[in-house]
Amino acid sequence: MITHIHTDIAKATKALLDGKVVAIPTETVYGLAGNALNDYAVLEIFKAKARPFFDPLIIHVASVEAVEQWITEMPEAARLLFQTFSPGPLTILLKKKNTISDLVTSGLPEVAVRIPNHPLTLELLKKINIPLAAPSANPFGYISPTSAQHVFDQLQGKIPEILDGGTCQVGVESTIIGFENEKIIVYRLGGLAVEDIEKVVGTVEVRAHSTSNPKAPGQLKSHYAPRKSMILGNDVDFFSLEKNKKIGVLSFSKKYLDVAQNEILSPEANLNEAAKNLFAALRRLDNSDIDLIFAEILPNEGLGKAINDRLQRAAAK
Ligand code: TXA
Ligand code: MG
Repeated sequence: MITHIHTDIAKATKALLDGKVVAIPTETVYGLAGNALNDYAVLEIFKAKARPFFDPLIIHVASVEAVEQWITEMPEAARLLFQTFSPGPLTILLKKKNTISDLVTSGLPEVAVRIPNHPLTLELLKKINIPLAAPSANPFGYISPTSAQHVFDQLQGKIPEILDGGTCQVGVESTIIGFENEKIIVYRLGGLAVEDIEKVVGTVEVRAHSTSNPKAPGQLKSHYAPRKSMILGNDVDFFSLEKNKKIGVLSFSKKYLDVAQNEILSPEANLNEAAKNLFAALRRLDNSDIDLIFAEILPNEGLGKAINDRLQRAAAK
């Protein structure tokens, strides 16, 4: 199969209506989209990603009204959060209608829904008027793609089309929240900062820790992982590393001298910029000839929380 990279929304729409999968841009990472109402298309997604069926998919729609078509109940706080932050990097788990198949939700009673903030994909969603199931467009467990080229590098020959919407502006996956007895739980730290959510709905519980029996397998201990081994630490920890190895460093803003490769996430120490650059930098390190990646732990605030979460999972064995 030849994989075409293009910007033709009509072509992507037709392919999706024909039951094919198409990689689409979002503000967080690229998704591998299929018609969420067509089980064959959904199966194609799992197949192309080698994704286990126990890991459910997020559905993407164009508006809050469109969210309501597929769920039975919208808590007030969910409505408020969607109204405040959508389109944007927020995914909410809501009770699904029967029209959403168990294949999409891995048999769970709730469906994950989000309204992505990318002009091409929003236009596509409005035009197609069906929900698109889309996990991140990477082989299961590997680093998520933030450009059309990243998708191509990993899935060429396995998918027919990539809709090219440039580089993702947020760079880490959406924040996933849900409700347990009216309480808001954050299951995955992501592109919408917890602090911003709390400004709107008050204190929330963050339960995005590692687990071997995750509600959201983004919680799997090892995930988002490069192939190279990776060590996490503070800048001082760098000096205790064995220097007979070729070390590549992923740093926040500091320049490391005398290392084989140094990827600086944000020279101005801006966490949003760091998030945007994170996955591309990790890929460059993973594709170079270094033996080991040393990554700095970032300040644990704002998007720094999501970045540290990804780095910890990337470093986990
Ligand atoms: O930013 C994003 O969310 C990107 C873009 C493409 O939208 N998508 C994404 O999808 O990161 P994925 O499949 O790589 O991660 C979705 C996470 C998984 O960890 C999955 O287990 C969880 O969401 N999830 C999906 N549906 C769920 C459900 N019904 N209940 C619990 N967790 C769910
Ligand atoms: Mg993923």
